[in-house]
Amino acid sequence: TGPDTVSPTGQPTGADQARMAQSGSYLTNAQGTRLYDTDHSLKAGPRGPVLLQDHHLREKVMHFDHERIPERVVHARGAGAHGVFRSYGTAANVTKAAFLAEDVETPVFVRFSTVLGSRGSSDTVRDTRGFATKFYTSEGVFDLVGNNIPVFFIQDAIKFPDVIHAGKPHPDREIPQAQSAHDTFWDFVTLHTEATHHTLWNMSDRGIPRSYRTMEGFGVHTFRLVNAAGETTLVKFHWKPKLGVHSLVWEEAQIINGVDPDFHRRDLADAIEAGAYPQWEFGIQTFPDTPDQTFEGIDLLDPTNIVPEELAPVQPIGLLTLDRNPSNFFAETEQVAFHVGHLVPGIDITDDPLLAGRLFSYLDTQITRLGGPNFPQLPINRPHAPVNDMLRDGMHQTAVHRGTAPYRPNSLDGGCPFTPGAHLDGAYVETPVRIPEATKVREAPESFDDHFSQPRRFWLSMSAPEREHIIGAYTFELGKCYEQAIRERALQVLANIDPELCEGVAAGLGLPAPEPTVPLADVAPSPALSQVGQ
Ligand code: HEM
Repeated sequence: TGPDTVSPTGQPTGADQARMAQSGSYLTNAQGTRLYDTDHSLKAGPRGPVLLQDHHLREKVMHFDHERIPERVVHARGAGAHGVFRSYGTAANVTKAAFLAEDVETPVFVRFSTVLGSRGSSDTVRDTRGFATKFYTSEGVFDLVGNNIPVFFIQDAIKFPDVIHAGKPHPDREIPQAQSAHDTFWDFVTLHTEATHHTLWNMSDRGIPRSYRTMEGFGVHTFRLVNAAGETTLVKFHWKPKLGVHSLVWEEAQIINGVDPDFHRRDLADAIEAGAYPQWEFGIQTFPDTPDQTFEGIDLLDPTNIVPEELAPVQPIGLLTLDRNPSNFFAETEQVAFHVGHLVPGIDITDDPLLAGRLFSYLDTQITRLGGPNFPQLPINRPHAPVNDMLRDGMHQTAVHRGTAPYRPNSLDGGCPFTPGAHLDGAYVETPVRIPEATKVREAPESFDDHFSQPRRFWLSMSAPEREHIIGAYTFELGKCYEQAIRERALQVLANIDPELCEGVAAGLGLPAPEPTVPLADVAPSPALSQVGQ
């Protein structure tokens, strides 16, 4: 039985099945009482006033009035699909995660999204795309909540409200919808130059993917893997689309926005319906878990950094296939709740300060969005592993829990004596990472200060047409700013990446190109970053 045929007491019943299917030879109200008419309110005579005693009218309209739930504060517009993940077993030496052992098949649900637009916005806007995957593993749920861009705007979660306030529409006019072409966005990303790398990816062809099926995905942060012997390895997660990485060009994106605002969700659903199942290879870049958590001089705790694939090749560890469309958008795509803290034994976090804030934020926002703390009971969020969690009651509780004693240790209920520390086998055990002696500070490490050498590497890795597209994108987006000072500050940022980029955009804006204020970094291109030839 699938979860949608299980009653609140855990038993499928005919009445519940009929309620789910909303089918049958007669209509009822929500209490199961038969209706004889659903088209007319109860009135005092055919032309008389409507009577307050009409429960069917009040119930029907009341329920309709509450059909909408708040949209996600970010990533509101999305499309999802079910699928299966099959692991190759090639990561078994670095992680004990059961779903990464050889030839294990794990059901998954994936939700792709744009970040800034509201739920009804267009698909082919220039924006980052979310790529969130829920693995229903035998050891509990593992969520990889990633994006199609491997770096982030900010290095510390305390700035997330700032970057999103800057990126969302202006509070007075509520425009622009889902576009980075406005003053507050450019004000933020030019004042916080740690945003330079992500912004450059946004202005590249990666900001306007051809299809969700042709996007890469990235876990962004560095995570920590733990194997059966307790050895640890630092890791970055990658999704590589089997169809290759492809983008639209800006003119196509603009036309499609008008002609078919649902272009990406239609493309995903149509492909799956036609049996052209999209696939991604799951891959890892691994790094020794050294005390400084750097690799070839790159700070692995800084989420504005990538590690070039030429320095650390992506090793394939499994295959994701999306093969089933949701049957109900609201129940599945809208109510799915991802969380970076949903981890399984063998996968742990690092001290990336952006990741730490996310560990708080998702659970917190979902209490509002999904109406209380019981959203893990929603069918799409239910683990496929047994749950015995002692959590009780609360808004929208649907389980009828048994027993009188949801606490441990417990000498009364006769089941599962829980002695702390006695259940290590198979449990999620946090890696005992040594925390160096430290003083409380509100500051970033010096290694977070270099904001230009990685963007320069990205620019130098681009082919001629890709560079032309990037110059065109900056020119278009900055051209929409009202404030001249913001355009000038943006040109200064571009000068610190590369003179050719800066001069191209300056010419487009009709402004002089400034000189760099930092020495241009001596970095080698990373051919894997270019879409040409992929
Ligand atoms: C939603 C990715 C940083 C807060 C999402 C979603 C994705 C995502 C893919 C959509 C999930 C879905 O489809 O339901 C990322 C990545 C980040 C990042 C890759 C950086 C590496 C942050 C930070 C915060 C944050 C720093 C807050 C401090 C949120 C919130 C939601 C969200 C509140 C809405 C969740 C919901 O309503 O269920 N993020 N995010 N994100 N993110 Fe992030």
